[in-house]
Amino acid sequence: MIPSVRGTRDILPGEIERWQFVEDVSREVFELYGYAELRTPIIEREELFAKGTGETTDIVQKEMYAFTDKGGERVTLRPEATPSIVRAFVEHSLEQSMPVPKVYLIGPMFRYERPQKGRYRQFHQLDVEVFGVADPSIDGEIIDLAWTLVTRLGIENAEIVINSVGCPACRPRFSEALVEALGDDLSKLCGDCQRRAATNPLRIFDCKVPADQPIIDRLPHTVDFLCEACRAHFDAVQRYLALYGIPSRLSHRLVRGLDYYTRTTFEVLASNVGAQNALLGGGRYDGLVKELGGPDRVGIGFAAGLERLVLALPPAAGRVAGLSQAFVAAIGDRPRDAAFELVREFRLAGIRADIDYEGRSLRAQMKRADRLAAPLVLIIGDDELGRGQVKVKDMRTGDQTDVARSEVLAFVRARATDTAGAGGVGLRP
Ligand code: HAM
Repeated sequence: MIPSVRGTRDILPGEIERWQFVEDVSREVFELYGYAELRTPIIEREELFAKGTGETTDIVQKEMYAFTDKGGERVTLRPEATPSIVRAFVEHSLEQSMPVPKVYLIGPMFRYERPQKGRYRQFHQLDVEVFGVADPSIDGEIIDLAWTLVTRLGIENAEIVINSVGCPACRPRFSEALVEALGDDLSKLCGDCQRRAATNPLRIFDCKVPADQPIIDRLPHTVDFLCEACRAHFDAVQRYLALYGIPSRLSHRLVRGLDYYTRTTFEVLASNVGAQNALLGGGRYDGLVKELGGPDRVGIGFAAGLERLVLALPPAAGRVAGLSQAFVAAIGDRPRDAAFELVREFRLAGIRADIDYEGRSLRAQMKRADRLAAPLVLIIGDDELGRGQVKVKDMRTGDQTDVARSEVLAFVRARATDTAGAGGVGLRP
């Protein structure tokens, strides 16, 4: 057997219903808030992320699935969706066709990280982005959207953390203060942090090395260094959250591991999914569109990890599986053809029907019907065929009725609507 690649997973029937539930609820919520779906290629030019996500990020430095293709071009599997969506926004001048470009994307991302629970090398994101709105009301809407999504999924024990990382006007002052505050302690920090102090001091807050934490916890806070405009913006965002009654906690270390963020950053953390507890994260990126060669347009968005949302769901959540509504059993060769005809008729009429393919005994067929949890079993033997009838057995009550062949569809349809297998989205009974 050739095993799957480390850090990738198969999502099998039994689990996929939870994925479908998350996807269905997400689409519903995104569309309620006016977001339209977009899909971009999984493969992009490497430089899109080097420039977009940022040269000093772990993603670009260590985690990209980048390679030279057969034409000599440097390409990569996308590690995140934001630069791709910005590229598409610019390439197709989306602001011409959409009054307020509000889009979402669902799809796989790739990062060469150390796999563990909730962290994979191929994972899936639900990503939401808005372009061109500078007003803090959109920050409020995006965080509200994220929270509504988590709530609608039935996820409990989650919390929102927020911060502001300032803008190019106030951040240099903060970076300087950070290095100054570190002083001699800089030499006690890990090698990565020492490098970060020189290239992008804000990244020091991403450090996970335990020995570094007491030093990092003593460092100054971004919010104390915001310029007036950033301060007013952040106050307004918090006012919107209060207006909507959405609880949030200020987290001074929330600088997010990507280089494009300006002003608002936020995450939703869950307490029941293990060490990888960020269900989603995002923020504002007011300089990214221009940086990637587009017009000077601000942007904001977030991405949720589908695997992590699925992990955090209540145990009973999931799309109700498409169970069989009717099983057709045949006794003998001629009835077999009639049974296949009937199954096809059911399916074309929108009734989920199943049949045994092997021509086995009635007992074996009934067993299969039982495993499929079909509430109705239709039995056709030579007798029934001769009389132009079908025997319908209701497995819930044990009742048997002979129904004229011409009436079978109406008979089953009337009884199939109230079955557990009627499909749809919701909590399993
Ligand atoms: P991110 O924080 O790198 O942000 O990823 C967002 C979410 O993707 C995380 O909160 C987590 O749920 C999930 N995730 C990330 N890496 C993995 C992994 N290796 N395995 C499983 N899940 C993972 C971004 O990607 C930004 N593009 C978000 C954004 C959109 N900011 C503005 N717009």
